[in-house]
Amino acid sequence: MSDVSARHYALVDRLKQQGFIRTPRIEAAFRSVPRHLFLPGVSIETAYTDEAIITKYLNGKPISSASQPSIVAIMLEQLSVQEGDRVLEIGAGTGYNAALMDYLVGDRGQVVTLDIDPDVVENACQHLLTAGCDRVQVICADGGFGYPAAAPYDRIILTVGAGDILPAWQQQLKPNGRLVLPLTILKNVELTVAFDRVNSYWESDSAANCGFMKLRGAFAESQEKETNSKALDFKEVLIQVNNIYPLLEPLPLNLLLSLYNLINFGHASLKDLKIKAYSQEIEYMPKAKETVIDKNWTKLVLSWQ
Ligand SMILES: C[S@@+](CC[C@H](N)C(=O)[O-])C[C@H]1O[C@@H](n2cnc3c(N)ncnc32)[C@H](O)[C@@H]1O
Repeated sequence: MSDVSARHYALVDRLKQQGFIRTPRIEAAFRSVPRHLFLPGVSIETAYTDEAIITKYLNGKPISSASQPSIVAIMLEQLSVQEGDRVLEIGAGTGYNAALMDYLVGDRGQVVTLDIDPDVVENACQHLLTAGCDRVQVICADGGFGYPAAAPYDRIILTVGAGDILPAWQQQLKPNGRLVLPLTILKNVELTVAFDRVNSYWESDSAANCGFMKLRGAFAESQEKETNSKALDFKEVLIQVNNIYPLLEPLPLNLLLSLYNLINFGHASLKDLKIKAYSQEIEYMPKAKETVIDKNWTKLVLSWQ
């Protein structure tokens, strides 16, 4: 086995051991797509670490990247893509996640991936061709509007952070479709949530902690309605914890996330969290122990089962 393949497989093995890759199909997708082909100019060693790799900055701020492989795995497990599915991705970035999903949908399916920046789109196209994924459609468009030309979709995934569930995404999904997105629940609290439609509302199937760069374009501002939260900044928690316990070894991430969730939600694990998203027009009377968070387009109702 070459050094590149050895590093590639070692990363997949680690993602599996750590529980981020849980199903054989997702494992096979990760094994079949070499991440370094989507990161030209990045060393092989770096391409196969479990790190996000920034690929573009604007005014000193990161605006495009290859997401951290562990969060890519978590979100693909949440998305549960089936063979033959039509999938829309918002945030093409390097094209790596689109290539993984191209493997998962197979010959009968279709992946459409959007990015707002023409140069990012051009690079993603190049990477996908190099990796042999010539069926993926890469389009330059503002994902806030979805992509009606290829709708309806079985799955929609955002790989860029949203503050709300925008109408276009709801309209362009099939009735039994699934939406996975990094959603800012409260200021400083971002979760990747898998939503399924249930009657007139959306219900979460799973949620996990995450941190993504934010959606740009027409809907960038209007999503930031929720500002007066007392939720803690995760980076601030890390600094405070390490001030109290100046350890040589950093605390395990899982422990820190549990602490963070405990402080922000009163629950260490997100396993029992249920989020329902109702359209803003619907009158909703919260039941006991439910928290309602008002967004521009939706009301999020949080409860612990
Ligand atoms: C974290 S990167 C995506 C990573 C990518 N999925 C991968 O596998 O490499 C987020 C991407 O979202 C794009 N983006 C931001 N706002 C967008 C919008 N409104 N519509 C489409 N893409 C957007 C950024 O340009 C950036 O490339």
